[in-house]
Parts: sequence; structure tokens; C-alpha cells
Amino acid sequence: NHLDTLYRQVIMDHYKNPRNRGEVEGDKLKIDMNNPTCGDRIQLQMKVEDGKIADAKFNGEGCSISLSSASMMTQAVKGLPVEEALRMSDLFSDMMLGKDIDTSGLDLGDIEALQGVTKFPARIKCATLAWKAMEQGLNEEENA
Ligand code: FES
Ligand code: FES
Repeated sequence: NHLDTLYRQVIMDHYKNPRNRGEVEGDKLKIDMNNPTCGDRIQLQMKVEDGKIADAKFNGEGCSISLSSASMMTQAVKGLPVEEALRMSDLFSDMMLGKDIDTSGLDLGDIEALQGVTKFPARIKCATLAWKAMEQGLNEEENA
């Protein structure tokens, strides 16, 4: 159906042409996160300035779902205030649990295509890897 096609197209697009793959310049947060089920790992780098995510980039090895999710996540949170990025992360967790989500005021962009992952429960950890890294980094920053 339409959602399945969208799911595949959007994931393959981000996998083949990742947005924000690389290193953030200057001072940054670095968060390493691994998926214990497969051993794949990504490193997320973020620069937080004036309460906003000024830059976000990622590196690492993983499957198409984990890398495309990292690409979409960095694209979505760049420029967002920290609280909004954390709210987006909560919404994403709910989405992965198959809950109905209220996206008012937030532009999820391509991320909605990842809803397709909920049909493959074994892959949910792949989709959430980069998000966990983002959440951990922002929480550490807030408590620093
Ligand atoms: Fe192996 Fe994602 S954990 S397919
Ligand atoms: Fe390892 Fe998906 S198979 S992150």
C-alpha cells in the first residue's frame, strides 16, 4: 500500500544520501550508542548553543533503518530548541510503540515514514538508536 511504498522510498533515500553524516566543528557533545541486538554503533555529535541544537551530525555503521533514522533525526532537530527536540523524541518513542501521536506544532517531515518500522518489531531498536543518543546527549547537557 501507499505507506509501505513511502516507507521504503524514504528510508532508501536517506540511506543512500545521508543528511548530516560527518563531524561537527568546534566544541560539541559526542554520544556513542550501540544496538545490543546486532552490535552496530553510531556516534552522534551535537552543538548546543543558546538552548538550541545549532548542529547535529552522525557517523557509524548500521543497517538501512538505523542510518536513515539518524539522517532523518538530525535533519529534524537541527535548529530546534532543546525542549522541542526532546518532545519530538518522546513522540518518536510513542510512534514506535504504535500509539497515536499529536504532532501539533512540530514538523516531523520524513520521520513519519518510519511508522512502517512498527510492522517489524525486531527492527524498532534500529530505528530508535540515533534518538536514544540524542536524548542522552541533551539530558547530559541539561544536567551539566
Ligand atoms: Fe539486526 Fe536490526 S538488530 S536487523
Ligand atoms: Fe544493527 Fe539495525 S541491524 S542497527
